[in-house]
Formats: sequence, structure tokens, C-alpha cells
Amino acid sequence: MNVTNRISANAETGAAAAQARPRTVFVKAFGCQMNVYDGERMVDVLRAKGFQPAAAPEEADLVILNTCHIREKAAEKVYSELGRLRVLREKRRERGADMAIAVAGCVAQAEGEAMLARAPAIDFIFGPQAIQRLPDLIDRLDAGERHMVETDFPAEDKFAELEGKAKAPPAVPPAAFLAVQEGCDKFCTFCVVPYTRGAEYSRPAADILREAEKLVEKGAREITLLGQNVNAWHGEGLDGTTWNLARLLRELANIDGLHALRFTTSHPNDMDDALIAAFAENERLMPYLHLPVQAGSDRILKAMNRKHTAQDYIRLIEKIRAARPDIAISGDFIVGFPGETEEDFADTLALVEEVKYAHAYSFRYSARPGTPAAELKDQVPEEIKRERLARLQELLAKQQYEFNSRFVGREFDLLLTGPGKYEGQLTGRSPWLQAVHVPGEGHAVGDIVRVRVTDIGKNALGAHIIG
Ligand code: SAH
Ligand code: SF4
Ligand code: F3S
Repeated sequence: MNVTNRISANAETGAAAAQARPRTVFVKAFGCQMNVYDGERMVDVLRAKGFQPAAAPEEADLVILNTCHIREKAAEKVYSELGRLRVLREKRRERGADMAIAVAGCVAQAEGEAMLARAPAIDFIFGPQAIQRLPDLIDRLDAGERHMVETDFPAEDKFAELEGKAKAPPAVPPAAFLAVQEGCDKFCTFCVVPYTRGAEYSRPAADILREAEKLVEKGAREITLLGQNVNAWHGEGLDGTTWNLARLLRELANIDGLHALRFTTSHPNDMDDALIAAFAENERLMPYLHLPVQAGSDRILKAMNRKHTAQDYIRLIEKIRAARPDIAISGDFIVGFPGETEEDFADTLALVEEVKYAHAYSFRYSARPGTPAAELKDQVPEEIKRERLARLQELLAKQQYEFNSRFVGREFDLLLTGPGKYEGQLTGRSPWLQAVHVPGEGHAVGDIVRVRVTDIGKNALGAHIIG
């Protein structure tokens, strides 16, 4: 029996059978926080269609691979995963069950139809802007259709549509995410995001506030606002004027029961004075800022179309630190952009030395089909990229350790978000976004506790609960 028959059989046996065993869905996320967030929205939308989340792919009637196209390695993962799923599907079929396989996310958007030639096991494909069409795709699947592809950018507002179609989950995690902005108009020459996510779009403040209040009602104590260029957010305000992110954060800070606010990811050129001042003025806004710079050479920054110099960035960091001296600065780096010389790379190291990062992500440049940089001559050999990345990561790791070392003996409030590394431990994130593990006895996930830092690990702090 093929998958579509199986699912339509379920649908036809009516309410009794559906009640006996509701269909289940497993979404596997491969990408950024927005990708994870979209995956959760898929589950919300499918709840309204009677689906429940499955604990593992082998237990799911529907598996959705929510893919990422940002680097070649991320994009290729989906094909090996599809191979594994085909095996799981066979095993389920031997047990008389079945599994539908869907591909979502940025690879779905970028490759669309072409994926079917390489992986005909896929039942349907939909892009990040087509999540609201999931119920319809399920109906078509139940009717026996396969190989459907939904990758248009619709005219309707994705988020408003999702709100309309979703059934709220029973609970939300203490540290929740909320998408306020999507898409990008910056067109950095290495990046696929403007193509996979489309043009910049800001949700209206009223929708965001409503969703934030709902999250807090259901147990969220911290909210991270998400957007590909979150600090470019400028949406319709409650008073009909256009608000900036600082204004939105001020309104969000008034929500009763909300303990902490964060936002990510920001672009240096959209870091306006009001937002910088928010780090000094908004008590709920945590002292952490992810501000990617990518490279420290002006020549490379220009070729990347980042539209600022290394000095602009360094001056900006100084201004932010003047407003909030203890702020943790985090960044993204690309090594081996086409044409990057040893001298250019030395400029990146020099910028890192000057800024002093609390944390950072760094990547080897990966040529992405359809982006301008992929066409450039002077692609840097992998060997050189590997070697430069190792040097950069060594420096960044040293800075991270130095940043963390200053925290021994420090006290702060910690929101407990999950089990810790060892039995009996609980974990959370410090205001500076460091992972913190504490002995959890007598406390539960969702509690806010006062802690004192006792040890510094490579990637985390150890602390004790006090008072
Ligand atoms: N909107 C965010 C993040 C975009 S993707 C921003 O502008 O910063 C996250 C990171 O992936 C980027 O900051 C960049 O460092 C990295 N990245 C993007 N495209 C890449 C590519 N082609 N090769 C290697 N790294 C890339
Ligand atoms: Fe990509 Fe640049 Fe847009 Fe960030 S700002 S998403 S790196 S194009
Ligand atoms: Fe990847 Fe798409 Fe996010 S390409 S990084 S999942 S926006």
C-alpha cells in the first residue's frame, strides 16, 4: 500500500479510527533559528489538521525535512537524510504502516522541482513562504497526489495566515522565539537568503504584541525576536505611525511576566541610535548582541557588498559599549571569500583582536549557485580556507574563554530552560547568553533563580543557586 492510500484510508475510517491513533508528524530542522521557528509553525498548522508531534522520525506518518541552503554542506545533508528516510519508510511498510516524506525550507525554495529528479521518494516540496498551504497539501496527499511543489511567494501575509490556520500548542518553552521580520534586501554577494526568503518584510506591532502576550500566558519568560535582518524591522505601530525596533522592544518590555528580551540577527548598517540606547534604557533587553561583520578587510567587505568598512564597524562597537559597557558581542565570519589574500585575512584577525568577541561563528566560504560571488575568479583553495579558519577559530576560542573567565564570582538571575549536562543539573542562559549549568535540586524548568558563578568551562559556566 502506498503512502497516499494509507493516509486516505486513515481519513476515510472516520473519527473513531482517527481518535484511536492520530496521525503524527516529525519535523527535522537543518538551519537557522528562523528555520527552527518555521518548523514549529508547521507543527502548529498540522495540529489543526489532527496531527500530533512524533518523538522520532521512525514513529511518524509524515516526516518534514526543513532544509538550509546557506552552505553546500548544509544543502547536501538533505540528500543523505532522504536516503535514511527511505530505509525507515520500508521498515514501517513491513509493519503495515507508512510514511510520507516532505521537503521544506530554503533548499526546497532554491531547488524546487529539480529535487524530485534526484530524490523521487519525496512526496511533496514547499518553500518557507508556503507553510500556510500545508493543510491543502495534506488534502491533496490524501487524495492520492504526489510530487507536489509549492514554492511561489504568495501575496498574502505568511504570519497572519499562519495565525489563522494554527491551533496553539499546549505549552511553550520558557525561552521562546518570535519572528518579527523575514527576508533580506541586502544582497551580500555570497548569500542565498535574499533568494530563498525573498524581500524584507516587517510584521505589524499589534500582531507581534498579541503573539508575545500569548507566549507569556503559556509560560514563556524570555522572548527572542527573530529576523534575517531583525534590526531593520520597521512596522506599523499601535498609534498608526511606523515604529523602529527600539520602540517595539519598549512596548514588549511592558508585558507582565516577561523577564528578558533578545533579538537576532542584526546587520551593522541597521544599528540605529535608538536601538543602541535601548541597551542602556530597556531593563528587559539582555546585554548580548550578535552583529556579524564577515571580514576585516575593506577590499573584501566591498566585494561582499556589506556597504561598510572595518573602521565603521569598530566605531559602532565602541558606541554600543559606551551605552552598555558589559555587553557581549558576537559575530559571524567568512574566511576564504574569493580573492582573499593573506593580507586581507590578517585584517580579519586584527579586527577580531580589536573588538574582542564573547562568542562567534566562523565558516569557510562556500560558493552558492546563483550568487554573484560564486562567479568570481580567484576562488581560494579549500586547503588555505581550512588553515585560515583554524587560525581564526583559535583566536575566537581564546577570546571566548577570556570573556567567560571574568565571570567567576558574578551573580545574576538565571531562567532555567532545560536539563543540564549531568544528572540532577538544570541549565539556562546568562544575560550574556553563556550556557550556565546549576545543581537543580528543588527547582524546575521555568523557574528564575539567583546564581553565583563557580567554574568556567570551554563553552559553559558552572554556578550555584543562592538565596
Ligand atoms: N542575516 C544574517 C545571517 C545570514 S546567514 C546576517 O546578515 O548576518 C548566517 C551566516 O552564514 C552569515 O552571517 C555568514 O557568516 C554565513 N554565510 C552566509 N553565506 C555563506 C557562504 N556562502 N559561505 C560561507 N558562509 C556563509
Ligand atoms: Fe545574507 Fe547579507 Fe542578507 Fe545577511 S544581510 S541575510 S548575509 S544577504
Ligand atoms: Fe539556512 Fe534559510 Fe536560515 S538558507 S540559514 S535556513 S534562512
